[in-house]
Amino acid sequence: MKKILIIGATSAIATACARLWASQGAEFFLVARNDERLQQIATDLKARGAKAVTLHNMDVTDYDAHPDMLEKCLASLRQIDIALIAHGTLPDQQTCEQDVAVALREFANNGTSVIALLSRLANQFEFQRWGTLAVISSVAGDRGRPSNYLYGTAKAAVSTFCEGLRARLFKVGVHVITIKPGFVDTPMTKGLIFPAMLVAQPDQVARRIVKGIKRSANIIYAPGFWWGVMFIIKSIPEFVFKKINI
Ligand SMILES: NC(=O)c1ccc[n+]([C@@H]2O[C@H](COP(=O)([O-])OP(=O)(O)OC[C@H]3O[C@@H](n4cnc5c(N)ncnc54)[C@H](OP(=O)(O)O)[C@@H]3O)[C@@H](O)[C@H]2O)c1
Repeated sequence: MKKILIIGATSAIATACARLWASQGAEFFLVARNDERLQQIATDLKARGAKAVTLHNMDVTDYDAHPDMLEKCLASLRQIDIALIAHGTLPDQQTCEQDVAVALREFANNGTSVIALLSRLANQFEFQRWGTLAVISSVAGDRGRPSNYLYGTAKAAVSTFCEGLRARLFKVGVHVITIKPGFVDTPMTKGLIFPAMLVAQPDQVARRIVKGIKRSANIIYAPGFWWGVMFIIKSIPEFVFKKINI
């Protein structure tokens, strides 16, 4: 029976992952900032077979609250088998260009907060010498595109941080998986228009995440075809790339 910490537990992708783990009888410590949604998710997970669900309210950018969250999580779970970091916001790129305060706030929400959380969790996992840190980054971090490079920069920072952390923690038996979804139909992308064939459902992405964690994959694209899409996008020479609008 797995003991699972989920940060950003109200995310559609995280909820879909939690449902899969609940059916295996997992025990959860769920962290998010919306109490009502947390309660709904806890009821749903218990109905699906979760052994126990503990809820914790925290805004991830409240860095002073991180130690207390981790302490309460350990008091509840004793040991963490999987920590999934799933929170995020998709900022409007043009607003970020005009308002530095918004740009820095969004970078903190998507980048700095993840680094802060992983830094604390890494030390706990190093002490345990066991477990998986699963981090949702994005294909957006693979190359800076004019349409969303603020978000992409934060995700690139997360992906690079995970790469270094993976090599550090491998030596003590702890695994770090970087998850790079493409376009997923969740509240985050509501109202945005993407080619239908490129849009995945949260359940589909969750199945890939849960499987990736089980087989200790290092980096997964979700769905898998995004590896090919990003390979092509990364291969475009800079002198061509800067002329196109993507
Ligand atoms: N959807 C996509 O196309 C896509 C693509 C690539 C990567 N991703 C990544 O996938 C992850 C999950 O996103 P999703 O698609 O499942 O979207 P989602 O359903 O909108 O979930 C995002 C979650 O992050 C939480 N959150 C945001 N800022 C927070 C904060 N400061 N403190 C605590 N919680 C905070 C939100 O909570 P509230 O409800 O309280 O705001 C929400 O539950 C994110 O890391 C996202 O960047 C998504």
